[in-house]
Amino acid sequence: MEEIRLQKYMASCGVASRRACETLITEGKVQVNGKTVTELGTKVTDKDRIYVNGRRIRPENEKVYIMLNKPRGYVTTNKDQFDRPCVLDLMKGVKQRVYPVGRLDYDTSGLLILTNDGEFTKKITHPSHQVVKTYIARTSYSPDQQDLETLAAGVTLPDGTQFAPAQVTVLEPCLVIVKVTEGKYHEVKRLMEYVNCPVKWLKRIAVGGLELGKLPEGKWRYLLREELDLILGDK
Ligand code: URA
Repeated sequence: MEEIRLQKYMASCGVASRRACETLITEGKVQVNGKTVTELGTKVTDKDRIYVNGRRIRPENEKVYIMLNKPRGYVTTNKDQFDRPCVLDLMKGVKQRVYPVGRLDYDTSGLLILTNDGEFTKKITHPSHQVVKTYIARTSYSPDQQDLETLAAGVTLPDGTQFAPAQVTVLEPCLVIVKVTEGKYHEVKRLMEYVNCPVKWLKRIAVGGLELGKLPEGKWRYLLREELDLILGDK
């Protein structure tokens, strides 16, 4: 990106009109790369880190990648026929029109990625990439060794739906880690139901090598470039 005047850049981020941005600058409310700037002649590029009143600003058309710790009780679609809360309601402060990459059920919590980058979404949801999604699940019964082998071999449900191999590890009675690659509708619930261990509670804890970590429920944060590589890097 070529250099542009700071007030023009700020306006392109939706901060305010150019004139109002000039006032913010002369009042000392704007920092560029950690330094307060009060000169109206200052020029910047999209490589500069710009803060207004202590908050980082970004161009409205910039590609952004976000991780959300989705709470239970939210849908991942934009509109819901039952008017239930939607994950976008939790994205306050994000200027770009982002959408979820894949989906989590209404009653599933955990790691959800949101972006405005269609190419990236295509890449990580395409079956050829086989991105591993990791879940922790509480089940009504514990799967035994034979159940684990059945799931590891891949199963076909009575309705003909085929599931690729799933790797399941028992952490403690009725608490399992499930790793799947497909992202089919109710994938984990249907797999565990198949071996008579229905899921009572489900949370996604990683997508590829990207882990949810300690992000509190209902909160989001931007992903760093190197974290995007983690998603596709872990097979
Ligand atoms: N599998 C499920 O059954 N539900 C989810 O939300 C995600 C994976």
